[in-house]
Amino acid sequence: MKPIQVGLLGAGTVGSGTFNVLRRNQEEIRRRAGRGIEITMVADLDTARAQALVGEAPDVRIVADARAVIADPDIDVVVELIGGYGVAKQLVLEAIAAGKHVVTANKALLAVHGTEIFEAAHAKGVMVAFEAAVAGGIPIIKALREGLTANSIQWIAGIINGTTNFILSEMRDKGLDFGTVLQEAQRLGYAEADPTFDIEGVDAGHKITLMAAIAFGIPVQFDKAYVEGITKLGAQDIRYAEQLGYRIKLLGITRRGQGGVELRVHPSLVPAKRLLANVEGAMNAVVVQGDAVGTTLYYGKGAGSEPTASAVIADLVDIARLHTAEAEHRVPHLAFQPDALSDLRVVPMDEVVTSYYLRLQVADQAGVLAKVTGLLAEAGINIDAVLQREADEVGGEGATQTDLIILTHATREGTMNAALAQMQALPTVLGPITRIRKEELA
Ligand code: HSE
Repeated sequence: MKPIQVGLLGAGTVGSGTFNVLRRNQEEIRRRAGRGIEITMVADLDTARAQALVGEAPDVRIVADARAVIADPDIDVVVELIGGYGVAKQLVLEAIAAGKHVVTANKALLAVHGTEIFEAAHAKGVMVAFEAAVAGGIPIIKALREGLTANSIQWIAGIINGTTNFILSEMRDKGLDFGTVLQEAQRLGYAEADPTFDIEGVDAGHKITLMAAIAFGIPVQFDKAYVEGITKLGAQDIRYAEQLGYRIKLLGITRRGQGGVELRVHPSLVPAKRLLANVEGAMNAVVVQGDAVGTTLYYGKGAGSEPTASAVIADLVDIARLHTAEAEHRVPHLAFQPDALSDLRVVPMDEVVTSYYLRLQVADQAGVLAKVTGLLAEAGINIDAVLQREADEVGGEGATQTDLIILTHATREGTMNAALAQMQALPTVLGPITRIRKEELA
């Protein structure tokens, strides 16, 4: 059978990995796919970079203009590796309109504009595949969409941003503060020059939005996700959490509850004995809880040239196998048939019920603990554990303030917010209160 012809948009880290792995393993991939998969066009504004990648390979056209790839009638699949919401969105929509299947690693694009893109693809009968958009090389989209299709998914919790997991691991290992480790991460190439999307939780928010849509059959709706990053975490919170038997991880969480679907990203205390708490460095891991299968765990590299290429090529093989099938016989983009999506609402953060770690800088005076715990009691918030360090230990000899750490049982976020406002107003509370949510993941 004639090889399937692929046009690559972007010859950067993932583009070069895709080109190289496809070339290196072409024979095995052909035996699996039932036909060859050939990259016959590469578009990159930096044509010298594309040329360096392609080398002497015959029959690969290099162009600066991505639209030349979309316009080429011989191209069956467009692989979009440009990223972002701008030109990438236009190119993906144009490729769909031209009848091309699309493979993309662009989680930002799909989490924000997925509904429009999947509708366009459905109308045109083409596939938009995005395994590489979530957790890099881990085949989590395949697992959720196909392997776990028998299940009513109950919740997903994942470490789905390697940069922040690297930063948190280093802060814990070396006792360093956030800013110092961020600089180190940038020096090592883990964090982008502009790391905002990673450290503010936006990248993880995009990924959990896509997983929630597939798990629960709801539209992609990143605008309804609660997103909080790791920039305000202090080295002391990581230390105190450790003393209490927890590790702090940036988790993406989605959970089906009575009131709808929770969709949130924030730092979380995770019991140190959980496998997820022991995922270190830039690695990713996702736990999925299904009613039939129970708990399943997926672990691996969430970024990088060849790990992400592994996911891109898996999508290309799916397309090679399925593109001759009737569109309605293919696996739906979001796992559920497009006319069977649910309008299950995304629960506002105020309604989420979870437990909390609180750190208060308080004056070392009689009655302070009683005042704080009194306010929690009035709000009906049940205290699980209290830790107070000696003032000298926290602030040095003669210090007149100390840290008060409180773990609570589960309560509504709105209730906790109201109690926090009252505690913050106490004259004996001397700085902004740190609040970190706690997830038992049992
Ligand atoms: N920037 C992401 C991370 C990788 O740090 O995990 C791409 O999604």
